Amino acid sequence: MNTNHRQTVCQRGDLAGGQFVEFSLSDGTGGRDEQTGFVFEREGRLYAYLNRCPHLGIELNWMPGRFMDPDNCFIQCANHAALFIPENGQCIAGPCQGDTLTSLEVTEDNGAVLVRLPV
Ligand code: FES
Repeated sequence: MNTNHRQTVCQRGDLAGGQFVEFSLSDGTGGRDEQTGFVFEREGRLYAYLNRCPHLGIELNWMPGRFMDPDNCFIQCANHAALFIPENGQCIAGPCQGDTLTSLEVTEDNGAVLVRLPV
């Protein structure tokens, strides 16, 4: 697998107003496409994670683009309500407390938001 492959997932403007954008990861070979992730902006910085809860390895959200808790402070898993710090993915409450989401390197290039495939 080409681990240097970067993939455009959205435009920066798509993240305005606290929007989360979900995407599927491709390894650049036209093959595997099974991993999903999400990207968002918080206080001017971009963050991206695999959409996989460390508790059971399933996707965090039930509703498209909905990842935050009702107070808009933490990423919340819809399955068993684990809470994660948006800036580092650390679980601070719930069945996977102490684990972290898998972060993805995210960059911006001419308004396009790109993520790097996980190793
Ligand atoms: S699957 Fe996420 S808290 Fe259980």
